[in-house]
Amino acid sequence: MERPAESLRSDLLELRRWRTNDVDALDRAIGESLEHLLPWMPWAAGHGREHTAGFLARSHDAWEAGEEFAYAITSGDTVIGSCGLHRRIGPGGLEIGYWLHPHWTGRGLATTAAAALTGQGFALAGIDRVEIHHDAANTASAAVPRRLGFTEIGRVPEPEGPSAPGEAGIGVVWRMTADRWRRPASTPSL
Ligand SMILES: CC(C)(COP(=O)(O)OP(=O)(O)OC[C@H]1O[C@@H](n2cnc3c(N)ncnc32)[C@H](O)[C@@H]1OP(=O)(O)O)[C@@H](O)C(=O)NCCC(=O)NCCS
Repeated sequence: MERPAESLRSDLLELRRWRTNDVDALDRAIGESLEHLLPWMPWAAGHGREHTAGFLARSHDAWEAGEEFAYAITSGDTVIGSCGLHRRIGPGGLEIGYWLHPHWTGRGLATTAAAALTGQGFALAGIDRVEIHHDAANTASAAVPRRLGFTEIGRVPEPEGPSAPGEAGIGVVWRMTADRWRRPASTPSL
């Protein structure tokens, strides 16, 4: 099973595969980001060390299985967020997810990370589309695929309604195809 690079680095940030011994650093980053994450990330409501350790263990197994590729976003030695590529949108597709510690927003880092993951995704055999999904109320998340030239392809009411308190319950899907992908010149590369 083909897998993306385990580590991608620039002057600004590094993406590196999560390690099971990142539990303290990740737990601290989530704890400090909780108010910022709770409106949008359903898992944030269950935050705690055990939950964090479970995420890291699942991420390790999913990477080995070639199903999900979850990365720490770091600056120096500090964990400042998380992102990943997920095989959960059917054959030929990968979905990108991301979050940042609020201290590190507003600098283009999520956009840079998503650009790097898009490039990694299209380097894998058989991948012809990369998508970003978010709730319609999450305008900060929407701005990431928009900046990268993804196309909004649909808005669908979530059958079970909002899954986090900030959500409107309408899922928005953005897509990039392999033949259209070219990273915008203004986005630093990893
Ligand atoms: C979604 C989230 C990661 C977006 O973070 P963000 O900081 O807005 O996104 P970026 O890191 O790409 O930064 C973009 C900002 O940096 C600015 N910027 C500076 N240099 C930039 C560059 N080289 N490239 C792109 N943007 C740049 C942009 O203008 C933008 O500023 P603005 O918000 O004032 O318009 C963040 O809001 C978050 O963690 N939210 C909570 C979790 C969440 O909702 N995750 C997504 C679930 S679907």
